[in-house]
Amino acid sequence: MTEPVKLSMKPTGWFQIGWSAEYQPGDVRPLRYFGEDLVAYRSRAGTMVVLDGHCPHLGAHLGYGGQVQGEDLQCPFHGWQWGPDGRNTCIPYQDRVSKTRRVRGWPTLERNGVIYLWHDVAGREPACEVPELFDLFPDAGDPAAYPAPFPDGTMHGQDLRLHPQFVAENGVDYAHFKYVHRAEQAPTILSRDVDEWTFRTTMSLTFSVRGSDQELTSIEGGLHAHLVGLGLSYAYAWGSGAVLSLTAATPVDDEVSDLRFTAWVDTSDDPDHALLERRRRSAIAQVKADLNIWEHQRYTEPPVLATAEAAGFKEIRRWARGFYPADQLIRGEG
Ligand code: FES
Ligand SMILES: [Fe+2]
Repeated sequence: MTEPVKLSMKPTGWFQIGWSAEYQPGDVRPLRYFGEDLVAYRSRAGTMVVLDGHCPHLGAHLGYGGQVQGEDLQCPFHGWQWGPDGRNTCIPYQDRVSKTRRVRGWPTLERNGVIYLWHDVAGREPACEVPELFDLFPDAGDPAAYPAPFPDGTMHGQDLRLHPQFVAENGVDYAHFKYVHRAEQAPTILSRDVDEWTFRTTMSLTFSVRGSDQELTSIEGGLHAHLVGLGLSYAYAWGSGAVLSLTAATPVDDEVSDLRFTAWVDTSDDPDHALLERRRRSAIAQVKADLNIWEHQRYTEPPVLATAEAAGFKEIRRWARGFYPADQLIRGEG
């Protein structure tokens, strides 16, 4: 029998928390992810820092009025300062700092204009790499042909009732392409390749495009999907124009997630960028079509699967279990 189950919203891994262009040196923002109040800031030298949000002194939220002083963050309440590693660096009305109290720091890095945060409930150090996009998909060609995507090639949905695993499962779900993405026929899965942190799928897709003479031409395209844990779903799609993308779901708390989508559009066949905006919009429209399903989806375990799709779903669900803390793998509802 199929029972409602709830997947843990505390998976281990790297997750997207923003885009680099959103933070200038000196910018400070409150964030909330994984049920934790956090503060993010960019230091004067340009380093992104994420710390627990509340000041260990008397508990002010550093994200509401905190100020960047050099590399450190100054609390808005009594002016204590905290370094990027969370150490106390200044108590303005005392000559000694606190050696014992520190704010918890969260591993953070930036790559390809994306800001990533490492989450692990057990507090372990990052156990995998965040890929460099153009190393991941060498077929994508020259990175210089892909204009910086922020903001027009991005989408950000906040507090959505979706689980990151829904996004990850999209990669093995060939049958939805016809219905959700209006592909002419279901794609053919050419390969699947799994290790501890990554799940890679390659599929071929045939679709037709109406040319300027109004004639329909059939185009052979394809898609490489490359998941890094449950939070990061990279893809390289080719056919009529090529697009690299990242679809990233980050749990806010036990109920809702943020979804960020970034499309890097290849302009090597479009040097004047006449097609750029249209290609960006159509990439964003595809993820919005998925989102329309994900937001209202209920996780079903075990699912009723057609024969041909069973192996892929079983494999990705087995892989996904490795990212949940053992004590809260899947919670029954009610
Ligand atoms: S609460 Fe932060 S300095 Fe007092
Ligand atoms: Fe999809």
